[in-house]
Amino acid sequence: MADIGVVIVGVGQVALQNHLTGIALSPRAKVVAICDSDQTALAAAGERAGVRLLFRDYHEAVNHPDVHAVIVATPNFTHPDIVRAAIDAKRHVLCEKPLALDYQTAVDLYSRAEQAGVRHMTAFTYRFVPAMRYMKHLVEQGAVGVPYHFRAQRFQDWQARPLGWRQVKKLAGSGEMGDMLSHRIDYAHLLVGRIGRLVAGLRNYIPQRGGEPSDVDDWVGILCEFESATSGVLESTKLATGRGEGLRGQDVVELNGDAGTIVYSTQRPFELRIGRRGDADLETVAVPREFWVWPGCPRDPDQGDPLATFRYDQGFEFIDAIVNNRRCRPGFEEGAEVQLVMDAAERSAHERAWVDLAPHRQTPLRQINSGGST
Ligand SMILES: NC(=O)c1ccc[n+]([C@@H]2O[C@H](COP(=O)([O-])OP(=O)(O)OC[C@H]3O[C@@H](n4cnc5c(N)ncnc54)[C@H](O)[C@@H]3O)[C@@H](O)[C@H]2O)c1
Repeated sequence: MADIGVVIVGVGQVALQNHLTGIALSPRAKVVAICDSDQTALAAAGERAGVRLLFRDYHEAVNHPDVHAVIVATPNFTHPDIVRAAIDAKRHVLCEKPLALDYQTAVDLYSRAEQAGVRHMTAFTYRFVPAMRYMKHLVEQGAVGVPYHFRAQRFQDWQARPLGWRQVKKLAGSGEMGDMLSHRIDYAHLLVGRIGRLVAGLRNYIPQRGGEPSDVDDWVGILCEFESATSGVLESTKLATGRGEGLRGQDVVELNGDAGTIVYSTQRPFELRIGRRGDADLETVAVPREFWVWPGCPRDPDQGDPLATFRYDQGFEFIDAIVNNRRCRPGFEEGAEVQLVMDAAERSAHERAWVDLAPHRQTPLRQINSGGST
C-alpha cells in the first residue's frame, strides 16, 4: 500500500531521469505532487507522471496534507530555502547535491532536520553504483590493507557549451567541483574517512558560454591528506578534449594500499580491477550479483542500462529509511562534510595555500561525522 506521498520540487533533468523511477520502485511510496516554478515544465512532467497535484509555489507543495516526503531537485542556490520549508512542515527530505552553497548553511540544514526528527538524505547517487559498493566492501575486508593513495578522475569533453544556471557562481556555488567532483569527495569519505588538510586549484578557462558570463571552475584539482594519513588526488574537468561526455567520459577511482590496489570505473558497473602485491598486472574481477542492487530494493538488475539503473536505488533507500525509521545513507551530515571540503578548496585556491579542515568543522558534525559510515 502506497502510504508515503512524495512531492518532487523541480522537475528538470535529474527529476525525470532518476527520481520518478526511483520512487516508483517502492510499493510504500507514490509521487502524489509535482512542483516547478516553470509552468511548461510543470505541465509536461505532470502529464508524464500522471500526477494531479501541480504547484508552482514550493511552500504550498510541501505543506499539502497528502505530502509526507519531499525531493528537492532544483538549481543549487534554491536548496536551502526549500529544504527549510520541508523541514518546517515536518516532511522527510531528499536533497540533490550540493546540499547548500556553503558549509555553515549545510550544517544548519542538518541540525534542523535532526531537531525536527525527519529523515534526511543527500543525493550522492554514485554510492549506489554496484562496483563502488563492492569496492567499499572489499576495502572493509582488508583487500588493500593500509590505504596509501586515493585517486579520483572525472574527465569530460563539454567544451564551451552553455550550462544555464550551472555556469553562474551565485546560482551554482561552484562549477565542476560541485557538479561532478562532489560525488567523488563523498566517495573518498566513504572509503578512507575524513580529509584533514588540502590544497586545491580551480580554473575558469571559458569565461563566456552561450554569449553569457561563466564565472565558475571548469577544472578543479585537490591534493589532500586524509585524517588517516592516506594521500588523495582528485581531479575533475569539463575540458578533457576527446574524452567523451556524461556516462562515456572518464570516471575512475583508484585506491592503493600496502596489500593491494582496487580500480573502479563507472563505465564498468559490474567489474573491478584488482592488483595484489607481486602481481604483474591488475586482474578484472566480476562484481558478485548480490551487489548489483541495493539491499532490499526490488529492481530487476537485468533490466535497463546498468549505467543508469543504479540511480533508481537512491529513491528506494530514501523511502526504505522512512518506512523503517532509520537514518538515510548518505544523510545531510555527509552533504555537509563534502561542503566543508569544497569551501576549503575554494579558500585554498584563493589564498594559494594549504587549508586545515578541523578548525572549520562545527559541532555537532565534529562529533558525529566519521565520514566512513555506510
Ligand atoms: N545526483 C546526481 O547524480 C545529479 C545529476 C544531475 C543533477 N543533479 C542536481 O540536481 C539539481 C537539479 O539539476 P537539473 O540538471 O535537474 O536542473 P534543471 O535545470 O534541468 O531542472 C531544475 C528545475 O527546477 C525548476 N526550478 C527552479 N527554481 C525553482 C523553484 N524555486 N521552485 C520550483 N522549481 C524550481 C526549474 O524550472 C527546472 O525545471 C541540481 O542541484 C544538480 O546539482 C544531481
